[in-house]
Amino acid sequence: MALRVVVLVSGSGTLLQSLIDAQSGPEFGARIVAVGSDRPAVEGLDRARQAGIPTFSHPLPKGADRAAWDRALTELVADHQPDVVVLAGFMKLVGAAFLEKFSGRIINSHPALLPSFPGMHGTRDALDHGVKITGSTVFLVDDGVDSGAILDQAAVRVLDDDTVDSLHERIKITERELLVRVVARMAAQSWWVEGRKICWGGSDGR
Ligand code: GAR
Repeated sequence: MALRVVVLVSGSGTLLQSLIDAQSGPEFGARIVAVGSDRPAVEGLDRARQAGIPTFSHPLPKGADRAAWDRALTELVADHQPDVVVLAGFMKLVGAAFLEKFSGRIINSHPALLPSFPGMHGTRDALDHGVKITGSTVFLVDDGVDSGAILDQAAVRVLDDDTVDSLHERIKITERELLVRVVARMAAQSWWVEGRKICWGGSDGR
């Protein structure tokens, strides 16, 4: 049975698109059962609709009760009975209810080599720091900011004339491949965390 995946997006959804494209191959082993967003009019939701995937949006109005928003998001996602939730450019921190419900099954993708440069501006912060190698990290979400156990990483060389945009675009090329690889692996193998380390088991653990 295919791994059921709910993807959350806040923007253009090119990471989502890489998962949509991958799921047409028989070896992928995962199926996107819904795509949600905190922003109702983003391209990511259009991409899902074009692929015939159910969508929902769940904005967080200014001054709203954040915990109530998180509980409602948890229910919206849970309705689709995901095995894994992928945050693919989802720019809101999920809260306690969400983390409890999907503990160990929420993955996020970050445009830097964690634990360096966590937060909203990973690409910019790495460039400003003057690093020569950066990249992307796919990790299990915990209650910190980009602090969960690392599932996989890919390196990208920083060029002398890089801008934040040029570097981020190159990172996103590797990031898409990385995310597809990790989701395919989660579909094929069981996983658990020992300390900070992800361990991979056989296919019968799921
Ligand atoms: C990706 O680079 C992802 O790592 C980043 O947003 C981009 C989404 O691109 N997410 C974060 O920075 C989360 N902290 P996309 O909308 O084209 O898929």
